[in-house]
Amino acid sequence: MSAAQHPIQLQGIALESIAQEFGSPVYIYDGEKIVSQIKSLQSAFATVPLKIKYATKALSNISILKLVKKAGGGVDAVSIEEVRICMEAGFAASEIMYTPSGVNFREVKEAVELGVMVNIDSLPLMEEFGARYGNTMPACIRINPHIMAGGNAKISTGHIQSKFGISIQQLPEILDLVKKFDIKIVGLHIHTGSDILDAEIFLRGGNVLFEAAMNFPDLTFLDFGGGFKVAYKAGDPATDMAEVGTKVSAAFNEFCDKYGRKLELWLEPGKFLVSESGYFVVEANVVKKTPQITFVGVDSGLNHLIRPMMYDAFHDVYNLSNPDGELKPYNVVGYICETDTLAKDRMLPAVSRGDLLVFKNAGAYGISMSSNYNSRLRPAEVLVWEGKAQLIRKREVFEDLIRNQIVLDI
Ligand code: LLP
Repeated sequence: MSAAQHPIQLQGIALESIAQEFGSPVYIYDGEKIVSQIKSLQSAFATVPLKIKYATKALSNISILKLVKKAGGGVDAVSIEEVRICMEAGFAASEIMYTPSGVNFREVKEAVELGVMVNIDSLPLMEEFGARYGNTMPACIRINPHIMAGGNAKISTGHIQSKFGISIQQLPEILDLVKKFDIKIVGLHIHTGSDILDAEIFLRGGNVLFEAAMNFPDLTFLDFGGGFKVAYKAGDPATDMAEVGTKVSAAFNEFCDKYGRKLELWLEPGKFLVSESGYFVVEANVVKKTPQITFVGVDSGLNHLIRPMMYDAFHDVYNLSNPDGELKPYNVVGYICETDTLAKDRMLPAVSRGDLLVFKNAGAYGISMSSNYNSRLRPAEVLVWEGKAQLIRKREVFEDLIRNQIVLDI
């Protein structure tokens, strides 16, 4: 059952009018919400020296990155391309953490040449890194703490069978390599998963970090990763950030005081910063009644918002064009040649062809996971900032689709 429908306004501007101005489909972001999320994180962790390293992958539009920078955040980048995008947004190399997973060493070299810190995620990478750079380039180690956490298997990254990081059980091997090549380890990192509700998981992760930290005298930070859960529908539980902040900060301060360590606490939130800021507006192409179900077919699909298909994720839907209409049950589906059900069994105010519908919580992993499947074009992006709605990415056009194809004379 959908929550009560009401007009959605971003900084005093009706979402519907923004979508009418820029066309459908369109991703629309509320910049103020991103800044307020950053502030709430800063206040939850006010008693520790906090550094926020926004997980670029969640939403990597350069204007959004500039906003994060303006609000005092740094960034975590998982590919050399994300590193470059962050630099385009004005981040200095020193504000970027590069957390690759199983990349070719060429890419690591590129990051080092740009002056960006590498988060080492395997023993072979550590060996190659050490042999090449010795103690000339400070580095971080991504530890796999063997903690099962996260909303579903695809987004659980810190358990014993996960590909990520170097197992905490391999600490002796890590220490051998650090010693052999005199690698300067300044940070230890964990990221156990996404959609983590429980403060306990972060505390358990912290304990792994604290114990490992005893072996690294040059540390300047401990990175607890991201993964805070946001509410995807009314009544959905979300991470209690004040609780996580209080508990994790207390444990962190206790560790630092007890062992006389002077460390920063780093966090890498993606969803928490941008999920709720994002609205994905689509248009109803067809309302199709079948013997059992009424489908609303929209001008979008899994090519623009894959989360419902990939993770069975729930995104609340509103009918912007008929908010007061009689509630009826619908399946909202895409136009892709697969069963791309974006929203199943939802009560929505009666939908007619041409109505604008909005998916909420679309800021994180929406456009950043989009594709050109079925040779469809990616939507536009709009940022509402300082009371103005502005285009921050043009809608793709047909030429974008075939730009890189080399057509043979056949
Ligand atoms: N740090 C690292 C090393 C990560 O791998 C991730 C996410 C984050 C931070 C940020 O996690 P967040 O705070 O956004 O939960 N596409 C999935 C989520 C995948 C997350 C992958 N790593 C989704 O849409 O639910």
